Amino acid sequence: MTSYFVGERPRADWRVKNEIRMKFPSLSVNEGMARAAVAAFCVQADPSATELADIKCAVSEAVTNCIVHAYRDTVGEIQMKIQIFAEDVVRVEIKDHGCGIEDVKVAREPLYTTDAEGERSGMGFAVMENFCDGMRVTSRPGKGTTVTLIKRLQDRASLT
Ligand SMILES: Nc1ncnc2c1ncn2[C@@H]1O[C@H](COP(=O)(O)OP(=O)(O)OP(=O)(O)O)[C@@H](O)[C@H]1O
Ligand SMILES: [Mg+2]
Repeated sequence: MTSYFVGERPRADWRVKNEIRMKFPSLSVNEGMARAAVAAFCVQADPSATELADIKCAVSEAVTNCIVHAYRDTVGEIQMKIQIFAEDVVRVEIKDHGCGIEDVKVAREPLYTTDAEGERSGMGFAVMENFCDGMRVTSRPGKGTTVTLIKRLQDRASLT
């Protein structure tokens, strides 16, 4: 198993205000569904338009990776858990039981892709890192991958 971590870590004392779990097959139509679902659920935390767009983009990259890499030409299950914490933090966990990643530290390097002949540019993890405040990737080859995204809603507090 390899894992990679950047930015803010979730804290054990954060208080969950609301959470939702979803399971869906790795069909490309579900990438848009996941984007819409995360936006619809996170609106209650009163994010700024930019923050909401950031969360949607990051989730969309993670879900797309499950669809195109984890399960490739097959269809498997994707699990998504979204949590809103009282500390003005959103946490999204996206999990697959697909092929896994040999070395996540290598995979996250900008421009690294195993699909260079295709239309992939190797920027998905870079987008997730840049659009969120924290990211953790854990993967086991042959078993699957879990991506955890942390987004702190700061703009909201400064506006009120
Ligand atoms: N869920 C996953 N399961 C298996 N492999 C993955 C998964 N997510 C990422 N990878 C591997 O990590 C590499 C880098 O992912 P990243 O999202 O950064 O780039 P990409 O998907 O190749 O290109 P882009 O996201 O720009 O279209 C992928 O090419 C793939 O090999
Ligand atoms: Mg990608």
